[in-house]
Amino acid sequence: MSQETKAALASLDELRDWTRKSLAGASDPAAVANIKAALFGRKAGKVNDLMKLLASLPNEEKKTFGQAVNTLKDELTAMIDAAAGALDAAARDAALRSRAVDITLPGRRMHDGHPHPLTDTLETLTGIFSRMGFHVRTGPHIEFEKYNFDLLNIAADHPARDMHDTFWMWDGVVLRTHTSPVQIRAMLKEKPPLRIIAPGAVFRCDHDATHSPMFHQVEGLLVDRHVTFADLKGTLGVFARECFGAATAVRFRASYFPFTEPSAEMDIQCVNCGGRGCNVCKQTGWLEILGCGMVHPNVLRSCDIDPDRYTGFAFGMGVERITMLRFGVNDLRLFFDNDLRMLRQF
Ligand code: PHE
Repeated sequence: MSQETKAALASLDELRDWTRKSLAGASDPAAVANIKAALFGRKAGKVNDLMKLLASLPNEEKKTFGQAVNTLKDELTAMIDAAAGALDAAARDAALRSRAVDITLPGRRMHDGHPHPLTDTLETLTGIFSRMGFHVRTGPHIEFEKYNFDLLNIAADHPARDMHDTFWMWDGVVLRTHTSPVQIRAMLKEKPPLRIIAPGAVFRCDHDATHSPMFHQVEGLLVDRHVTFADLKGTLGVFARECFGAATAVRFRASYFPFTEPSAEMDIQCVNCGGRGCNVCKQTGWLEILGCGMVHPNVLRSCDIDPDRYTGFAFGMGVERITMLRFGVNDLRLFFDNDLRMLRQF
C-alpha cells in the first residue's frame, strides 16, 4: 500500500479520535450540533475534506479508502446520535427529578368549611329548645311599629322606646329592634297551647365592641293553662345546663320589661372563673344571659287571648353575647369581619 494511502487512512483514525474526545466534552445539544456541523458541514466539513485526499491516491487504492471513509461516516453518525440521545435522556431525567413528588410526605390538608360560630350557637340554642318541645317561628326583619312596640305594651310615649335605638324605615315601620314581635305574630295567628322559639336578626342603631347595629336574638314564648313562674325557672335552668354545662348555676334578678310582669334577668355563674370573680364577670361571679318574665296580661289581651284562662312566659337572649361566652371571644365585631384567621379557629 502506498505511503499516501497509509497516511490518508491514519487521518481517518485521527478524525475518529477527535470526534470521540469532542463529544465527550459536549455538555449540551448545541455543542453536539456544532461537532456535527464541523464534521459534515457542506463547506468546511472535515469529512468532505477527506474526500479531497482521494484525488492524490493511486487508482487501485481509491476504492479501499472510499469504503473506509463511508464506514467512518456511519460510525461518526452513530457516535453523534448516541451522544445527542444521552444528553436528551439526561435532560429528561433532570426535568422529571425537579418536578418529582415525594409520595411519602403527608398530604396538604384542605380546609373544610364549617358553620360560623354564630350559626353554631343559633343551632345549639334551637336544638336545646326543640328537644323541649318548642317550635321554630320566624318573622320579618322589617316590622310594623305596632308589632315591635304597641302590642307589646310599649305605647308611643313609653320611655322603653328610647332604649331601643330604633332604625325607622317609614312612618309606622321599623327594622325590628328585638325578636319579641314574633311572639305577637304567633299569638295572633296560632292559639294556645303555644310553645315557640324565634331565632333571628335584630337591629339597633348602636356600634362598639359589645354592640353591633345588626345582631341576633332567640326569643321564646310558652302560653298554656296554669303556666307559672316555676315553669319559666325550670325551663331556663335546663337550658343553661344544656348550653353551658351540667354544673352551671343560675340566678334570677327582678327586672323590668313592658311586655312581661313580673320580669327577671337570668344570670349564670361565670363560665370563665366559676364564680370566684374575674374581668369577664367584672368581679361579680355572674353573667347576665337573658331577659324573661310572665307574659303581661295586656299583651295576651291585645292578641285576643284571655288572661284569666291562659298564662305564659317569655324570654329573649342575645346570640352574640352567648357566643362570646361559649368561645371566649371578647370583641363582637370579630364575628362580622369575615376574617378566616378568626373563623378557622372554631
Ligand atoms: N325583647 C327583650 C329585649 O330585647 C328581651 C325579652 C324577651 C325580655 C322576652 C323578656 C321577655 O331586651
